Amino acid sequence: MGAFVIQGGKPLNGNVRVSSSKNAILPIISACLLTNEECHLNEIPGLDDVSYMCELVSYLGAKVEVDGKSRKISVKTPELTGNTADYELVSKLRASFLVMGSLLARSGRAKVALPGGCPIGSRPVDLHLKGFEAMGAVIENGHGYIEAVCPSGKLKGANIYLDFPSVGATENLIIAAVLAEGKTVIENAASEPEIVDLASFLTKMGANITGAGTDTIIIEGVERVYGTEHTIMPDRIEAGTLMTAAAVTCGDITLSNVVPEHIKPVTAKLRESGVEIIEYESEIRVRNNKRPVAVDIKTHPFPGFPTDMQAPLSAYLCFAEGASMIVETIFENRFMHVNELKRMGAQIRLDGRTAIIEGIEEMQGAQVRATDLRAGAALIIAGLAAKGTTEVLDIHHIDRGYEFIENKLQRLGADIRRVM
Ligand code: UD1
Repeated sequence: MGAFVIQGGKPLNGNVRVSSSKNAILPIISACLLTNEECHLNEIPGLDDVSYMCELVSYLGAKVEVDGKSRKISVKTPELTGNTADYELVSKLRASFLVMGSLLARSGRAKVALPGGCPIGSRPVDLHLKGFEAMGAVIENGHGYIEAVCPSGKLKGANIYLDFPSVGATENLIIAAVLAEGKTVIENAASEPEIVDLASFLTKMGANITGAGTDTIIIEGVERVYGTEHTIMPDRIEAGTLMTAAAVTCGDITLSNVVPEHIKPVTAKLRESGVEIIEYESEIRVRNNKRPVAVDIKTHPFPGFPTDMQAPLSAYLCFAEGASMIVETIFENRFMHVNELKRMGAQIRLDGRTAIIEGIEEMQGAQVRATDLRAGAALIIAGLAAKGTTEVLDIHHIDRGYEFIENKLQRLGADIRRVM
């Protein structure tokens, strides 16, 4: 399973380039299924989740060519050879549910295993399904699968109001609407930057989409879409994680390949805690030389504070002067890092979706377990600043979303190594 062994106490210094976004590329790979022409994707992050998604679209008929050296992939699907995404693949990667929109749009039918729960919450797909139904799909749920069929063979544009601005539902419905007959309006849509990247890719393919990045997205269906080329946006969560790592170790780092606008909520909270942050066009410098001051955080859909940065910031605030209150509003069980941080000496009280962190001056290294991707990132952050050795177990969770994080941290001066 592998572990990271970290000797804490080394300030991070230097420059590092942020990889492309995991959450942006996954729906884009799915969207490649909409055309029989070749799509070229650049700046591909070397992540397990990307490999799983490629495996899934290959299973459905895509020919995927990976050029690891130049970090490119090409996806071409002359025809769909199947329309079933089975449980083994879907359970590895919840985002694989995003092939439902592509399959429905291209072939009028799709059968995708129910993703089920995951450690951070139950994560239902009801909003995706309500949207497909509004577009004329007939949905059946049985034997662990969702089967959707378009009796007329083609989805129809519809007005869809999402009860919650779900990122995945917004993406799935945009993809589905691209080839639908007529106009689809998605209201209370998610406005995350990854949605904008997906819309920009689809627009290059020939789709007609306006409003991505706002809460109302309008898609005018088109007859067909074409192959294109796209460079995936930078990963704002990786950037935020590295910024937090620099802050907690009292370091001075400059990140390139970032969009400062995307990271604003994290920048604001780090600044409030006393960190100096200088924003350039596509770079960001983070400098800190003192113990952070406690701050309160509440997670929200974009442009609010991202739930994916809640665990890393919680680890950082364990070292703060004063008490911080963290409220998680997006997922019901996203505090699994708390018990692990406590093993390192953190003083945290949990009450439902609220954590109160009493900052302490020093945490001690310990053996801890990554229970999910961002919880794993939190433990690395704690380990980088703790006294002594921290061993983070189950790092396969971390590899799903951070591309060789240890190499980047080593380049910045951290004492971290991977052991098998
Ligand atoms: C995406 C991101 C994930 C991030 C999350 C919130 C990817 C691959 N993953 O996940 O990293 O943490 O956005 O920013 O992009 N919900 C429903 N019904 C639905 C769909 C969602 O109730 O049909 C609920 C979920 O249970 C959750 C909330 O809505 O409580 C947010 O989920 P959503 O925005 O859909 O997250 P994902 O797209 O799964």
